[in-house]
Amino acid sequence: MNRILVTGAVGQIGTELVQALRKKYGRDCVIAAGHKTKPTKEFIDSGPFEYLNVLERDQLEKLVLSNDVGTIYHMASILSAVGELNHQLCYEVNMGGVLNVLEVARIHKLERLIIASSIAAFGVRVPRDNAPNDAVLLPTTMYGITKVAGELLGTYYFRKFGVDYRSVRLPGVISSETMPGGGTTDYSVEMYYAAVEGKHYTCFVREDTVLPMMYMPDAIKSLMDLAEADGLRLKHRVFNVNSMSFLARELADSITEIIPTFACDYKPDYRQAIADSWPRSLDDSAAKEEWNWDPTFDLPRMTEDMIRRLQGKLAK
Ligand SMILES: NC(=O)c1ccc[n+]([C@@H]2O[C@H](COP(=O)([O-])OP(=O)(O)OC[C@H]3O[C@@H](n4cnc5c(N)ncnc54)[C@H](O)[C@@H]3O)[C@@H](O)[C@H]2O)c1
Repeated sequence: MNRILVTGAVGQIGTELVQALRKKYGRDCVIAAGHKTKPTKEFIDSGPFEYLNVLERDQLEKLVLSNDVGTIYHMASILSAVGELNHQLCYEVNMGGVLNVLEVARIHKLERLIIASSIAAFGVRVPRDNAPNDAVLLPTTMYGITKVAGELLGTYYFRKFGVDYRSVRLPGVISSETMPGGGTTDYSVEMYYAAVEGKHYTCFVREDTVLPMMYMPDAIKSLMDLAEADGLRLKHRVFNVNSMSFLARELADSITEIIPTFACDYKPDYRQAIADSWPRSLDDSAAKEEWNWDPTFDLPRMTEDMIRRLQGKLAK
């Protein structure tokens, strides 16, 4: 089997995706490519690690050829909140990175290319509840614009050059293992950390803000299940994946069920406008039909698991 390259491997999703892929395919089969963030020693020791700037196509190409890479999981990106603070960097990294991995996949006939998209692709014209898979995408953030352009480019490379590009539109991803990288749904992870550390939390969106979220094990499962799906069954290249949607207040309530002393207030900042431009839930029937998408966690199960894991980490 050709090897797998994960870009953005030291990011929130990349870190755990690398471990899940290594568990499934073997340690040496997965090349983790980080960028500026220094990985932990434990991460470096877990298997092959390289530094890669995805904007350097030659560097990417060398890495792919010298390691016999057949599949790329492209996770390197600038996220929504950081993207609104630095729109040019967001454009350059997100567009340049996607174009480079698509070109390398095309030229070297890679087996598969998985690129993470986001609910930020939708924008304000799409029904906010049960947002359809095939919708008119008119995002109002630079991050969303780059995600739509990435989806269109990937689909173009599939149709024109046969690059086996596949993508999921991930909702806000919540993890006990890695901190989020500057997205609009970061309040959910921050709330759990504050609760477990016995701190008060000031949430940067209103308490009635509803966004779709997903626990990390399900986000990893969505990427890996789609990568392994039978291509003959796929009618789409890009898929909505839904898991759970809740009010910011409901998340706080689920935490106080386990940690009754936890207290939270709400002071919306610039990220409220980003959240208000995103859907509240997604229609993921295409993912269910075409590759049997089936998430595992709901809010109570996630809260219970998050708190148990974070308390375990804190006790060390
Ligand atoms: N985390 C979420 O809630 C979420 C939700 C929807 C979609 N996504 C998507 O999933 C993917 C992974 O997200 P994440 O949460 O792990 O993000 P993250 O910010 O935690 O990680 C992204 C990584 O990309 C790296 N990077 C930045 N510029 C780079 C460059 N020029 N070359 C190489 N690497 C570079 C960063 O160092 C970082 O480690 C992204 O495409 C993101 O848009 C994430």
